[in-house]
Amino acid sequence: MCGIVGVVGNSNAASILIEGLKHLEYRGYDSAGIAILSPDGQQIVKEKGKIRNLEAAIDWDAVKGTCGIGHTRWATHGAPNQLNAHPHQADKVALVHNGIIENHTALKVQLSKSGHKFLSDTDTEVLAHLIEDFYDGDLVHAVQLALGVVEGAFGIAVTHVDEPDLIVGARKGSPLVVGVGEGMNYLASDVAAIMEHTRQVIYLDDGEMVTLRPEGINITTISNEEVKKEIQEITWDLGQIQKGGYEHFMLKEIFEQPQTIRDSFRGRILTDSGDVKLGGIELNEWELRNIRRIVILACGTSWHAGLVGEYLLEEYARVPVEVEYASEFRYRSPIIEPGTLCLVMSQSGETLDTLEAMREAKRKGAKVLGITNVVGSTIARESECGVYIHAGPEIGVASTKAFTSQVTILGLITILLGRRSHLSAERGTEMLQELEKLPALVQKVLDQSDAIKEIAKVYANHTNCLYLGRGVNFPIALEGALKLKEISYIHAEGYPAAEMKHGPIALIDPQMPVIVIATRDGSYEKIVGNVQEVRARDGKIISIVTEGDTAIAELSDHVITIPATMNFWTPLLSVIPLQLLAYHIAVFRGEDVDQPRNLAKAVTVE
Ligand code: G6P
Repeated sequence: MCGIVGVVGNSNAASILIEGLKHLEYRGYDSAGIAILSPDGQQIVKEKGKIRNLEAAIDWDAVKGTCGIGHTRWATHGAPNQLNAHPHQADKVALVHNGIIENHTALKVQLSKSGHKFLSDTDTEVLAHLIEDFYDGDLVHAVQLALGVVEGAFGIAVTHVDEPDLIVGARKGSPLVVGVGEGMNYLASDVAAIMEHTRQVIYLDDGEMVTLRPEGINITTISNEEVKKEIQEITWDLGQIQKGGYEHFMLKEIFEQPQTIRDSFRGRILTDSGDVKLGGIELNEWELRNIRRIVILACGTSWHAGLVGEYLLEEYARVPVEVEYASEFRYRSPIIEPGTLCLVMSQSGETLDTLEAMREAKRKGAKVLGITNVVGSTIARESECGVYIHAGPEIGVASTKAFTSQVTILGLITILLGRRSHLSAERGTEMLQELEKLPALVQKVLDQSDAIKEIAKVYANHTNCLYLGRGVNFPIALEGALKLKEISYIHAEGYPAAEMKHGPIALIDPQMPVIVIATRDGSYEKIVGNVQEVRARDGKIISIVTEGDTAIAELSDHVITIPATMNFWTPLLSVIPLQLLAYHIAVFRGEDVDQPRNLAKAVTVE
């Protein structure tokens, strides 16, 4: 995820910024840059790749200014390269930005007409030009005017050559914290970047802005009303903060899901018309209406997301779908007919099997759409068009937040295609309204983490586990079993609940925990029967049920509830308790949760 740091005062700003950026490295990034102001003007240095590249590119004898802003970038718009790295400059303005400016395309057209020239592919550069356009000797006022016309999310830090002792920061939907020092003041998106220098901080709230000068800070709303803020003392150490106070990155990433799901659909839904716009899908209306078959290619957790997509796309967009293990597809001479669309799913965008399967599909004439998290990854570059899932860097090897973002995007693609065939505007609107509620519902499930931990304690020493689900929850059973295997090394299998009687039922005894996903949907009555079959054989039942359920709850040893939602979006909720259960079991067993044995985050070998 992108990171911001800023400093204004009486010491060399560049070295403070570089140290600050290093403390943000753990968040993941693909490029970095700084802008330094001094009475002689402004120096901007940006580099692709690691901070050490940036450090090497700085002419340390020349960069002497005491005011500056810095950034680590995790690409969202435009490839990860030097040009797209922040700070972005528009004449005397320099800007770093976290978030997404949703109306950047329209603003860019407008600004181009009045003579602004753009060098990068980023939405951020548009905001820099907008501020420059409004500038009339007062940076604070120019930022206020510019933020009045942008739509989207931002945490920003801005400087102007004519006001060399000033940084202006503002936030809406993307965090910013002010560090209060003596003769030195700081700004950052994450306290990790500044806590070496001060532990006195003020967290900005959405809609607030700050002016930092060596002699002091001033916080107002973006519309210039006064606000009173309290200074807080940081009591944690750096290590804790990098994991956001969580014990492991995996837990942090599980808890980020309300935000990451929102980031995946932000700016992409047209709730009123029940439709979806996905900028990266370069198919015209005719092509969208003439997709005859979809093949989803993926590995691991991404393959499970693809299986959820199969249920959604077939039922709601009425397109036949096959989900293929990429490793199998590439070697078995697959049939690709005209009208075949391949969705290539990969968090990293680098998984070799998936990449080669995509190349094979292209060779055979399929239209290929990459669905990846890492901007500028090989799959993102080589696919003809693509959609980024915007989950932010995933550091834990076992994928969690990328999965829910992938499912969100597959839901959006389903609505996009559905609306061009069978789906009514009214139904599309309902689905999107429900999606907007999902982050809050996910939070309700996360709030049960302590209760799930208690269940985990009971089963931490078991050696086998069975996961059952039907319909759209069958792939969730597979994903739950995979999570447990990956990080706790307990043998676990996922099955469609009705398949249990064709084999796995032989395994059921009092030592066999069975995790049943039994939400209120069309197959609920059937799954009650499956649970009774487990009960009759003394299996231990942990059920995931919809709030208010009694029938399954009465048959279960442990019950975890999830809020009611449309069947369409249920997987976004039902997977959360399974992630938490696997996590807590692995912690009880003392395993290395973030880096489980034998596994890699991106598998770039066959
Ligand atoms: C590895 C990871 C899994 C991941 C799979 C596919 O096996 O350990 O967590 O699901 O690769 O990765 P991708 O980046 O293509 O989604």
